[in-house]
Amino acid sequence: MSAIKIVDNVWEVGVKDADLKVFDITMETDGTTYNSYLIKGSEKTALIDCVKENFTDEFLANLREITEIEKIDYLIVNHTEPDHSGAMPAVLDLNPNIKIFCSAAAVPYVKNIINREADIEGVKDKTQLELGGKTLTFRLMPYMHWPDTMMDFLEEDGILFSNDGFAAHLCSDQLYADELTADVDYEVEYYFKCIMRPFTGYIRRNMSKLDDHEIKMVAPSHGPIFRTEPLKHINRYKQWSRDKTEEKNLISIFYASNYGNTFQIAEKLASLINDKGYSVNLIDAVDCDADEVRESIESSKAVVVGTPTFNGDAVKPVWDLMSLFSTVYSIGKKAAVFGSYGWGGEGAKMVADRFSGLKLKVYEEQYRARLIPSEEEMTSLEDFASGFTEFVG
Ligand code: FEO
Repeated sequence: MSAIKIVDNVWEVGVKDADLKVFDITMETDGTTYNSYLIKGSEKTALIDCVKENFTDEFLANLREITEIEKIDYLIVNHTEPDHSGAMPAVLDLNPNIKIFCSAAAVPYVKNIINREADIEGVKDKTQLELGGKTLTFRLMPYMHWPDTMMDFLEEDGILFSNDGFAAHLCSDQLYADELTADVDYEVEYYFKCIMRPFTGYIRRNMSKLDDHEIKMVAPSHGPIFRTEPLKHINRYKQWSRDKTEEKNLISIFYASNYGNTFQIAEKLASLINDKGYSVNLIDAVDCDADEVRESIESSKAVVVGTPTFNGDAVKPVWDLMSLFSTVYSIGKKAAVFGSYGWGGEGAKMVADRFSGLKLKVYEEQYRARLIPSEEEMTSLEDFASGFTEFVG
């Protein structure tokens, strides 16, 4: 891919990775692009982001179509994940005097990537950089996708350089979304679900910053540029990242049960919590759809997980379910655990510890019943339900 002019004195200079099949280990793709942008003001030249390391030669060739690398004044690092920073050391090799602008959070990451002395400035939100007839305003957008992420708004042309935000892993000869035959809307949503969904709590706090700008074009660092309906995917992000816990008074109970004992507790607990005025989703971890679980976690004020203990551990379907908590935003959500057991009963505590590790707020009491729950044990479940719902508030 060569340098492509977007507007006067602004070029897309990135590369295509048509063969990429999996991104970030988990996201299946059919290729992507690593977009980078070069802006020439009347006084200064700025480069926004680099590309993955193994595309360095092609990237440098694209840049040289517009300028000598040594004449680039500024490197804007919006995000330090290697798909955008891999070629950064090569740029520094050729131009050791280039000044780097990035978020304050990114400064240590940049240092760890370039491993040399360099002129690095960590910027605050709304810092402006004048290039001469081209003005960049930096907006800090933490966790879109890493703590370091920022976006840049080019005031004179109304272009938002959004890095991973509003991106799609699409690889095409066309630069603009309105030229593609692919289902871009689907791909943007798929990208959001795979990459952004764990950070929705941060994203909803970031998105209002974009209301400050008259955005005419959105230029992400993967996939096509959006020059028509530029706010479409910004508004979709606002919708997807909204706080769903406010919409339903919901508590989700996930359980696995072999002989029916944990299920008996789960079913009774669902009834008791329902009596306290909450809606309840009761979901069998052994036979559930991952997306249904994610949606239920996101929509719930609190979650409860019940597991039997097998061989001194919670059971695999429960651990599989627990692995989904880090794929959505669950930090600070209230949680409790319960389970039945034969001799050790360690499973429930292990799940509680995992919840704590994921930064959920865990109700201190763990409800456990041995083998077939006795009448007395089922009565004590009422106290557990009362205490937990008070904890949820
Ligand atoms: Fe495209 Fe988070 O890197």
